[in-house]
Amino acid sequence: MQFDEKALRHLEVTYRAPEVVAQRRILLETVAARTGERALDIGCGPGFVTEELARAVGAGGDVQAMDNSESSVEMTRQRCAGFGNVQVRAADATKLPYPDNHFDFAVSTQVYEFLADVQAALSELHRVLRPGGRAAIIDTDWHTILWHSGDPGRMARVLKAWDEHLAHAELPRTLGPLLRGTGFSVMECKVISYLDTKFRPEGYSYNMTKTIRGFVRDRHGISRQEADAWAEEMQELAQAGAYFFNLNRYLFLAEKH
Ligand SMILES: C[S@@+](CC[C@H](N)C(=O)[O-])C[C@H]1O[C@@H](n2cnc3c(N)ncnc32)[C@H](O)[C@@H]1O
Repeated sequence: MQFDEKALRHLEVTYRAPEVVAQRRILLETVAARTGERALDIGCGPGFVTEELARAVGAGGDVQAMDNSESSVEMTRQRCAGFGNVQVRAADATKLPYPDNHFDFAVSTQVYEFLADVQAALSELHRVLRPGGRAAIIDTDWHTILWHSGDPGRMARVLKAWDEHLAHAELPRTLGPLLRGTGFSVMECKVISYLDTKFRPEGYSYNMTKTIRGFVRDRHGISRQEADAWAEEMQELAQAGAYFFNLNRYLFLAEKH
């Protein structure tokens, strides 16, 4: 999946969805940022999380944000231009450009599932946190999805092709043991469930339908026409009052020991 400028513009719209706004509130409550803390946002994307962290730690705190996509770095810089406590860099999650034992906490939402080498990224996360530092990580388990269709075979083919957009479609299932094996204590695991029975234009599933339609075209034998027909069916189901979408994300709060 390429996080270029066009993708970032659409991600910005998608991440204004009420479900994602609520997720950021849960993230902020769970990580319990205090004024004056040093925070790190790994894979900052459009920068909404970075902006909220900047407010939470206040002018006396420090927020470092990083991403390996130049478009993400640029968008986060623009979003946070009014904050003197934010610095944004281009870097890779598996080679963090920060000193050892530096941050009070770090967050990484919807990033590790894209990484081929999750273990390398967790080791880096562990290295840059101070002892007792917190890590809040959110990833989606795409195989929890319940997405109704009158053509279940086509839906299954579309979702199989969509699995190719990331490295680990089921990362949350193994993240607890991975964190413990890296030297963290897992303090909490919460489910964040996205439910839409209306196909609301401002909602997550409406906007992701556009993303998925574009991604699956010409993959796994799915033609442009079939991808379009799949997306159109969602609209038809909504008009018939028969739309149903449910997907789970998982939030892990861990502590470095
Ligand atoms: C789905 S977006 C999530 C953005 C943001 N964390 C949020 O939740 O609003 C995934 C982000 O991870 C970034 N990313 C993917 N692989 C990365 C890597 N190896 N190092 C740093 N960032 C990466 C992408 O460029 C993209 O901005």
